[in-house]
Formats: sequence, structure tokens, C-alpha cells
Amino acid sequence: SEVDWDVEAAEKGGYPHYMLKEIYEQPWVLENTLGGRLHEESANVELGLDLDLTRFDRVHVIACGTAFYAGWVGKYLIEELARLPVEVDVASEYRYRNPVVDERTLAVVISQSGETIDTLEALREAKRRGAASLGVINVKGSSITRETDATLYIHAGPEIGVASTKAYVAMLAAMEMLALALGRARGTLDAETARGLLGELRKLPRLVEEALERRPVVAHVAEKYHQATDFLFLGRHVQSPTAYEGALKLKEISYIHAEAYPAGEMKHGPIALIDPRLPVVVLATRGPLYEKTLSNIQEVAARGGRVVAVATDGDEGIRRHAEDVIYVPEVHPLLAPIVSVVPLQLLAYETAVLLGRDVDQPRNLAKSVTVE
Ligand code: G6P
Repeated sequence: SEVDWDVEAAEKGGYPHYMLKEIYEQPWVLENTLGGRLHEESANVELGLDLDLTRFDRVHVIACGTAFYAGWVGKYLIEELARLPVEVDVASEYRYRNPVVDERTLAVVISQSGETIDTLEALREAKRRGAASLGVINVKGSSITRETDATLYIHAGPEIGVASTKAYVAMLAAMEMLALALGRARGTLDAETARGLLGELRKLPRLVEEALERRPVVAHVAEKYHQATDFLFLGRHVQSPTAYEGALKLKEISYIHAEAYPAGEMKHGPIALIDPRLPVVVLATRGPLYEKTLSNIQEVAARGGRVVAVATDGDEGIRRHAEDVIYVPEVHPLLAPIVSVVPLQLLAYETAVLLGRDVDQPRNLAKSVTVE
């Protein structure tokens, strides 16, 4: 009825889909996730965790779906800033793989809903083996939060769209803060470097806002490629998980087959797929591996591949090698995934809309999977 329609339109805040509304909420969500937690004076974050962060000698990160990619970014961050060995597993593998765990293991379980059964069971498995546990969770009081030793809430607010967007950037911000806290507690991260990162974290809401303003460029790319049957996404280091998340978003809501690879691995197989019908989205933001990624772009272009690069503002040179360039604002390389995922979310969204897909309720998917 007309009344229901009005209520729904109001809930979507004037946006045609929850997913788009949630994508546009991301600057505000980041304010919320980071809010009150960044402390320049002590060059640290205040996470209120009832855990002794100095007592661990390894970290196991466990999650499913989009949360898994946030965990994978977390591995790079924790290894870099806190010099702790980190393993990342999808929960359905972790719970059946006989992991090596002891009391000095910290199990970090990441989940938007806090209800995903595989993640909950993997947590129980880690605990049975003696691990301490930390949940990185959105939904207050959810099942996982009742079983972890501590919870780091991401404060993304309710997420309705089945394809996760704002919870992902909030999870990434939470993992940045966790890595920083571990680094400070362990003495591997000096105050000056920590303050630099805190300053960059503070910029995130504004930078994500700017990334959203590039939507017309993304819409143009979607228009150009929405009839493609396959997509390839490439990235390196912290942008490898970004590539995987971009491919996942596209698969989930447009039903276009999309694969992701760490860019350096392309030569070991996927390069055979390169042809003019395969759009290749490359995360090529500035950072220590920029030149390597640029070589990968050239390898694709040389074989007639169509490159869509996600690049840093001001990088005009990349236009020589990429057919399309989506620019994102410059940020510290370790924080690049938070800004760079925005155009990939929009690319999936615009493509799905052009194909007439049900963006908020994609076929066969559920918002939270509580059966194995
Ligand atoms: C489902 C959803 C995904 C989500 C995954 C993990 O598969 O469709 O969007 O990433 O579950 O959910 P969680 O609530 O544990 O983050």
C-alpha cells in the first residue's frame, strides 16, 4: 500500500536502496567507530578492552564473507605495527583444521551480526584450545559477544542491505585501532609513528566523503562494462583483500562472475584469461608497491586487457596505461583499503542497478547465516 511505501522510503532516507544509503552513511559511521577512541596525547587508542595485550605471541583472525576480508587487512596491519604473527582463516575452515593454539594465542573473531554460526563455532574451538578471545562486532549483545573475553564494537548502526558495506569500513577502522593498540602495548610502535597514524585515522570520514563524490566516474565505468560476463580484480599487500572484497560485492549483487588475485600472482594463471572482453580492476593507489602494481597494469594492457585503475589523486601518469581511472583521495598506505573500497562498492551497486537486480535482497543470500 501507499502507506507502507512511504514508511519504507523514509527508512531508506530518500535513497532507492538500503545499500546505497549505507554506502553514503560511511563517513558518519567512521566518525562513530573512531569516536572518542583516538588519543594523541598518549599516542594510543582507548578501546576499553579487558585484555592484557602484552601477553600474546600470536593472533588468529577468524571470520566469514566480507568480515574475512577485513580480517585479512588486519593481518598486514598487526604484523606491520605489532610484529605479531597472524593467521587468518575463514571460520568454516578454522573450526575443522586442528589449529595450533595455546594461552598466548589471541583469537580475533569479526562479525557484523555476531550470529554467524561458523564464526561462533570457530570461536568456541579456539577457546577450548586455550585462546583468549576478542570479538570485533556490530550488533550489541549478539551471540558472539556473550562468549568472547572482550568485544570491540564497531558502531556501524543497523545494516539492512544483504551486501555488507558500512560494516566493512567500520571493521577496517577497528582493525587499524587494534593493530595500533597492540603495537603500543608491545613497544613495537613508537609514539611519533602512532601519532601520525592517529592523524590519518581522523581524516578518514572526510576522505571517504570525497571518495563518494567520484560516483559519476564509477557510474560511467559501470555503464561501459555492465554487459561483461567476467571481471578480474587485482591488488597488492593491504589492497589484495580490497580486490577480493570488490569481486565479492560484484558477485553478490550483480551475479557477474568476478575473481580476485593478489596482482603479483597474476602471471601464475589468471593472465591466460586476459582479453578485450575482460575488465580488470586494479587497485593502484600510491604506496611502497605502487611501481610493482603499475608493471602488472602494463602486463594486462600489453595483452589487450581493459584496465580500470583505482588510483591516488594527482597520479596523471597512470592514464597512459589504464583505459579508465577512478581517483581516490591520498591517505596513508595502510589506510588505503578504507578509502579504495568505496568506488568498488559503488561499481557493484551501479552495475546491479543497470542489470535490474534486486540490490538489497540478492538471490540465495542471507544477511546472517545461522545454520551450517
Ligand atoms: C553472510 C552475508 C555476508 C557477510 C557474512 C558474514 O554471508 O551475506 O554479507 O559478510 O554472512 O556475516 P557476519 O555477520 O558474520 O559479518
